[in-house]
Amino acid sequence: VDLSYFDSRVNRPIISKLPDFQRGERLQHVIFADQFDRELLDHLCDIADYIHELSRSKDGHIFLQSLLPHKRAMLYFTQVSTRTFLSFMASSQLLGLTCNEIRDPSLSSEYKGESPLDSIRMFSSYFNIIFMRSIQPDLAECSAYLMNDLADFNDYVIPIVNGGSGADEHPTQALLDIYTIKRTFDFIGKNDSEKKNRFDDLRKLYPGLTKGLSNKSYCFVGDIGRGRTVRSLAKLLSLYPNVTMYFIAPESDRLSLSPSLRSILLDRGVNVIETSSIEDVISDIDILYMTRIQREHDKDGKGISPKEHQRYCLTPELVARMKAYAGIMHPFPRNEEIPFTIDADSRALYFHQARNGMWARAALIAHLFDVDRRVAAHYMRNYAHGNRHDYNKTATN
Ligand code: NCD
Repeated sequence: VDLSYFDSRVNRPIISKLPDFQRGERLQHVIFADQFDRELLDHLCDIADYIHELSRSKDGHIFLQSLLPHKRAMLYFTQVSTRTFLSFMASSQLLGLTCNEIRDPSLSSEYKGESPLDSIRMFSSYFNIIFMRSIQPDLAECSAYLMNDLADFNDYVIPIVNGGSGADEHPTQALLDIYTIKRTFDFIGKNDSEKKNRFDDLRKLYPGLTKGLSNKSYCFVGDIGRGRTVRSLAKLLSLYPNVTMYFIAPESDRLSLSPSLRSILLDRGVNVIETSSIEDVISDIDILYMTRIQREHDKDGKGISPKEHQRYCLTPELVARMKAYAGIMHPFPRNEEIPFTIDADSRALYFHQARNGMWARAALIAHLFDVDRRVAAHYMRNYAHGNRHDYNKTATN
C-alpha cells in the first residue's frame, strides 16, 4: 500500500505523534504501546476486573450489554489471527456492540485494486470503531491519521485500534499481558483469610518479594527480533521501577534483540541482559515469556535448525527449577517451545493470559467510548463484595 501521503507524520519521533492519538485525557486511537502510562494501565486493569466480575452474573451481563448496543465494530484482519480476532469480537459483544469482519481481502474490493485506505474510509461510514491487523507496519498509524482528517466528514473521529502491525507493535497484547502479570503478582490465594494468606506464605520462602510488577525479572525467549508482542510488552514493563529483562534468542540480526529496542530500554533504566541459555537464569526469573520462531518469514530457507531450536524450548525439568510463584506466558500460537506436559503446572499462565484478553480489551473499548466510569460506578454500587479489590479506591476516570 502506498502510504507516502502520510510520510511527514509517520517520520516524526513518537513523542510528537502521541497527541494525534489522544482525545484530552483519553485515548482516541490505540496504535503504540507507548500511549499507555502507569496510571492508565492501572485504571484499565481495574475496569477489566470489574467487567470480569460483572460478566459472571446474568444481571451484570445485561448491564454490560446495555452500554454500547448503538455502536458497530469492524474487524479488519488481513493478517492471520485467532485469539486477537476472537477476543476483540467477544469483548465487543460483551459491551453490546455488533461486529462485522473482513479477513480475506480477496473477497473484498481490494481484489479489484481498491486501496486499503479507501476500504478503511468506507468502514468509517458504516462503523464506529475499527480493529485492524496488518502485515504492513504503518497501516494502522496511517489509518488513524486518515480518521483524524475525516473528523468533519464523519462528524466524529472513529477510533483505530491496532491488533498487530508488522513486526512493530501489538499494544493490546501488551495490555492484556500487563493485566495478567498484575493479577499474578497480586499474590491472592483462594483460601486467604485474616490469619493466613498466600503472600505472607511466599515471603517466608522469598523474603524480598513485593507485590506488583516492579522489582521483578522478566525473561523473553525465542523470536525477539520479529516478535511484536515482545517489543510492545517490553516497552510497558519499562514503566515499572527496578526491572531486569533477559533476552534469549538465536544469534541472528533478524531474531535477536534489535538495537533500537535495546537502546529504548537502556534509556529507561532497564537492566538489559542478553544471554544464550534458559538454564542459567530459570531459577532467578519471575516471568518467563516464551515465543515461537516465526518461520513464515524465513522464505530464504535460512531458518534455524531443529537442533538449535531446542535451546529455545522449555522442558518440565526447567520448569521444576522455577520459583514457586513465577509465571510462564506465551502470546500464542505455540509450536514446540512449550510441550503440552507443562500445561497442567500452576505456573503455566498462557491460557489464563488469552482469556484475560477478553476483559482487558473490553476495558479498553469501554475507555474509548467513555463508558468506563459507568462500569466502575455500577460495579461499586452493586457488586463490590469479597476481598479482591481495594473497594475504597474509586476509579480515576
Ligand atoms: C502473535 C502475533 O500475531 O503477534 N500472536 C498474538 O497476537 N497473540 C504472535 C505470533 O504470531 O507468534
